[in-house]
Amino acid sequence: MTEPSARVKELRDLIAYHNRRYYELDEPSITDAEWDALMRELVALETAHPELVTADSPTQRVGGPPAEGFTKVEHEVSMLSLGNAYSADDMREFDARIREAVGAVRYVCELKIDGLAVSLRYEGGRLVRGATRGDGQVGEDITMNIRTIRNVPLQLSETVDIEVRGEAYMPKPAFRRLNEAREANGESLFANPRNAAAGSLRQLDPRVAANRGLAVFVYTVVEAERFADTHSGAIAMAQRLGFAVNGESRTFDAIDDVIEFIDSWGRKRHDLPYATDGMVIKVDSLALQERLGFTAKSPRWAIAYKYQAEQAETVLRDIELSVGRTGAVTPTAVFNPVQLAGTTVSRASLHNEDYIRDKDIRLGDTIVVQKAGDIIPEVVRSLPEMRTGVEVPYVFPYECPQCGAPLVRLPEEAAWRCVNPACPALIRESLIHFASRDAMNIEGLGEQWVAQLLEHQLIHDAADLYDLTQEELVTLDRMGERSATNLVAAIAASKQNSLEKLLFGLGIRLVGEKAARTLAKEFGTLDALMRASSEELQTVPEIGPKLADSIVAYFATPGAQQLLARLVAAGVNTAFIAPRVRGRASTAALAAGDALREAGTDTEAVPAGEGTAGLAESLGDGASWFTDKTCVLTGTLTVMDRKQAGEWIEALGGKVTGSVSAKTDVVIAGEKAGSKLTKAESIRDSGQNANLVVMNEEQFIALLRAEGVEL
Ligand code: IVH
Repeated sequence: MTEPSARVKELRDLIAYHNRRYYELDEPSITDAEWDALMRELVALETAHPELVTADSPTQRVGGPPAEGFTKVEHEVSMLSLGNAYSADDMREFDARIREAVGAVRYVCELKIDGLAVSLRYEGGRLVRGATRGDGQVGEDITMNIRTIRNVPLQLSETVDIEVRGEAYMPKPAFRRLNEAREANGESLFANPRNAAAGSLRQLDPRVAANRGLAVFVYTVVEAERFADTHSGAIAMAQRLGFAVNGESRTFDAIDDVIEFIDSWGRKRHDLPYATDGMVIKVDSLALQERLGFTAKSPRWAIAYKYQAEQAETVLRDIELSVGRTGAVTPTAVFNPVQLAGTTVSRASLHNEDYIRDKDIRLGDTIVVQKAGDIIPEVVRSLPEMRTGVEVPYVFPYECPQCGAPLVRLPEEAAWRCVNPACPALIRESLIHFASRDAMNIEGLGEQWVAQLLEHQLIHDAADLYDLTQEELVTLDRMGERSATNLVAAIAASKQNSLEKLLFGLGIRLVGEKAARTLAKEFGTLDALMRASSEELQTVPEIGPKLADSIVAYFATPGAQQLLARLVAAGVNTAFIAPRVRGRASTAALAAGDALREAGTDTEAVPAGEGTAGLAESLGDGASWFTDKTCVLTGTLTVMDRKQAGEWIEALGGKVTGSVSAKTDVVIAGEKAGSKLTKAESIRDSGQNANLVVMNEEQFIALLRAEGVEL
């Protein structure tokens, strides 16, 4: 048998490793229940051998360490976590402990939202700080990111000083969209909505969080006794102040009713538009909460009931391989269909060779499957004890399943890749990518048409698309005349795209949508970009050496040069066109202080104008609210920098100047705005220019959006 001290060390190392994966990398490799099991084993060993307890044991801490890069903030009232329950018996034990201590109680049951805990502090009714939990004592200041979340009020309905806590989460549809976009960009996928939410809030650039569709449900009012006698009363008050609270909470007097409520959500929860992993049960009376108090780690008056991740056993029938546009060969498990979290599943990604080997997954194996975060099917493990001898270990092929070329695996990569530029799979996937919405946005040119066009040899590469005629298209299976006409028109329309769409569509390695936009904006034309050296490219913020080298290498290939020359000859625009502004002014937006979050962020880009670069050309037809207004930007803006803000104002017909005078029409005051703001207010209030408008960043952004600016 292992020495307890050796096992304690092993457990601590394991827990530290998994904590890092969970909290810092947002890439957990075990389930919460498995993590809990490790922790429980450690607690049991430390209880049996108290001499082994050390101050740095994970049993002595609540969560993970704060991430680097954010200012640390201390929680005046620590952010604790909860003890867990996994069965009705655990719940009855919890109830018995409570009754023994304080007698009869009423419980509040709340869905346990699967996201990350955040604290929101308001002074005089204004949001002043948003923070993560961190290790419970010290978290990270993520105010800038929190401010972008649409259902977090920036201003409460009363001028109170209050701190609330809640769960920041990513709704399931937003999560799906995000992963689809990441897949299209060749970026790694988030395992579940919780990691996606955590990953988004830990971005130092708040524009990332702003576009991720995050939301918060508030579930705790700090020092609630200042406002109410019960937890449910405090939450109701929080809702009146303007916070979003989850509407499914109920109160019960009897534990049996609590258990029934928990069970009733066991299945239904899958139909909710956000991920839940359990139910939190709290004693409602704040006086009784106080009497019950806390253990070192968690309150005695609450517990988290965790639903078992729904798992199913099935048989692995096959492993299919697909070749992506980057040549990466991805294995997919194909198994007998099973019901999981509300849907039938029969396939799950196996990611790469190592995943299959590490989990010892063999063809014909009985496997356990589940849905990560209730959404993405995954193979949890194989069951070697079920083997009958017919199972076959999987050997990853050495050759591309599509073209037979030898596969290559670079030392630092997990994927095997086909590097044959003539590989039909690569060509097909690249074309699908070229036509996709975020790239050249050729409406109607989906997977099936691309496959058929290639099969019929009507096209061989992206440039051939522009020579397609209606007569050729109608020869395809199930392509009617109308569709053919529309497709020819959609292909022609894509010639007018701004440069970034082409750059992204080319599928240059490491060039995602964001890099494509930065490059297009910075260099203005394809020619200029093609002439840039790696060093020049690296002078652009956000373009690192790897990305720069990849771009230079791409443009150096004769194949790329020929393709681009033919695209140009076909009339494809190769200049950057700033987004056009749409529609007319809406001063009403000014009133909506938090419209930053209400305005849609995923609206379609407006088709660009004729191929001319530069913001000056980008003006919409009608006058905008900013037309001919003299604006001053002051203070720190968080969602964009002052330079970008200035570009937008100019694009909308306004003028930006550096100093405030009676001639100033608008002052946009960011954080920590100083003397210019004071001066503007005094000019306005003294009547020198009573029409001078002072707005904060949210109002400014709301106004930009109301003017049709895509941010
Ligand atoms: S109450 C001291 N209520 O689950 C009370 N937590 O381990 C702390 N969570 O860290 C939390 N939904 O991130 C509470 N309705 C809810 C919740 C909830 C989700 C999360 C929260 C917390 C963890 C519990």
